[in-house]
Amino acid sequence: MADRYLTFATTGPGRFLTRHLGLPQPAQLHRHSPEHPTLDGELLLLTAGKSTYPADLPTLLTSAGHTIASTTHHPTAVVLDATAVTDVETLSEVHTALHPVVREVAENGRVVILGSPPDPADHHQAAAQQALEGFVRSLAKELGRGRTATLVRVTGPIATAEPTLRFLLSPKSAYVTGQIIQTGPAETLAAPADWDRPLAGRTALVTGAARGIGEAVAEVLTRDGATVTLLDVPSAQQDLTRVAGRLGGSALPLDITAPDAGDRIAAALPDGRLDILVHNAGITRDRKLANMARERWTSVLDVNLAAVLATTDALLKAGAFSPGGRIIATASIAGIAGNAGQTNYAASKAGIVGLVRSLAPRALAEHGVTVNAVAPGFIETRMTAAVPLLIREAGRRMNSLGQGGLPVDVAETTSWLAQGGVNGQTVRVCGQSLLGS
Ligand SMILES: NC(=O)c1ccc[n+]([C@@H]2O[C@H](COP(=O)([O-])OP(=O)(O)OC[C@H]3O[C@@H](n4cnc5c(N)ncnc54)[C@H](O)[C@@H]3O)[C@@H](O)[C@H]2O)c1
Repeated sequence: MADRYLTFATTGPGRFLTRHLGLPQPAQLHRHSPEHPTLDGELLLLTAGKSTYPADLPTLLTSAGHTIASTTHHPTAVVLDATAVTDVETLSEVHTALHPVVREVAENGRVVILGSPPDPADHHQAAAQQALEGFVRSLAKELGRGRTATLVRVTGPIATAEPTLRFLLSPKSAYVTGQIIQTGPAETLAAPADWDRPLAGRTALVTGAARGIGEAVAEVLTRDGATVTLLDVPSAQQDLTRVAGRLGGSALPLDITAPDAGDRIAAALPDGRLDILVHNAGITRDRKLANMARERWTSVLDVNLAAVLATTDALLKAGAFSPGGRIIATASIAGIAGNAGQTNYAASKAGIVGLVRSLAPRALAEHGVTVNAVAPGFIETRMTAAVPLLIREAGRRMNSLGQGGLPVDVAETTSWLAQGGVNGQTVRVCGQSLLGS
């Protein structure tokens, strides 16, 4: 379903009218394409307090293809190293650094602030670092014109943050804004030989891949070099075979709620090993709790949560993951903010956030596998096209970018999480939805 408001609002008359009527002013987002793989323009590198990485950070940014600006004229990205902010005084240097340049940031530009995790043993440092969270969330709401702001809390060497910085400082992160992401620990990193095909030689399995977000995930993982097995219910076999054929992957028709789903996945893997598992399959069966028959509860919890737990456990137990394996599950902003008529769905998706938080450190310690989640907001798919017009319009506009995301936005985020450098994170792909922000 085309977003006609977005198309109109980005014309000359549309811009004029929306500005004068005080209506949302979404910008056309620049997404990744082979012709447009990078943010065009210079990157401004600033510090608040003393930089923790005076040599390593410029080297990393330069090797990632950025030209570090010598002037403040229309940078396409601003990176502010605030990792050494330890008190209210050094925090004020964030204002000093960004106040003169923020207006200058180009359309579709990026502001990335590097912070440190709040230190439980130092309440001044913790206060100042937590302050960056409120700062970034507010700035992301102010920026407009397709510009985004993100806080990256760095743990360990800056090299661990490289996949994250490459993602955030590229068109691939067009719909990710207002987020707080912690990178590290160091053992989550496996720098690729070729950053243009960072998943080369890796095998991936994507559930719910016959259409929608799952299809886009399979496509982007393939573009990034992975060999993909696409799984979906047997009734979707025709679509599944078509998509698998188009991508050169293999199709696995299987209901993930089947009691032996984990074993059947393990048996279907090329060479019996798996590097990347994307739990994307999901369903909704909406009703207010008072009207919700038990079947609606169990079917949603079975597909969205119980099957994710069961297949993850089975594959970890079978030793199916190679070291450096990645598990990426799919939550939802409904699981973070709650949504009327979705007690079942929101419970299942909040369960995913709990699963990720708990399993991530153990899966890394015991299997060398990272566990993260994406939490999509309003994404333009068949699922959301079926939503009544007024609710759909509200869903599209109620975020800082004033528009719905595309399946590819979730797919790009998934591919970045598959590259490593992060563990235990739930990253919202929601244009900073006002729900649960
Ligand atoms: N579209 C959105 O706005 C949005 C927002 C938040 C979260 N999500 C989540 O993203 C994921 C994908 O959503 P989508 O919009 O692409 O949905 P979709 O309905 O278009 O696709 C879901 C796919 O999962 C498959 N599936 C369902 N049950 C299955 C089972 N038991 N075994 C195997 N496959 C099964 C379906 O056949 C379908 O192909 C879901 O987990 C959904 O909850 C979507």
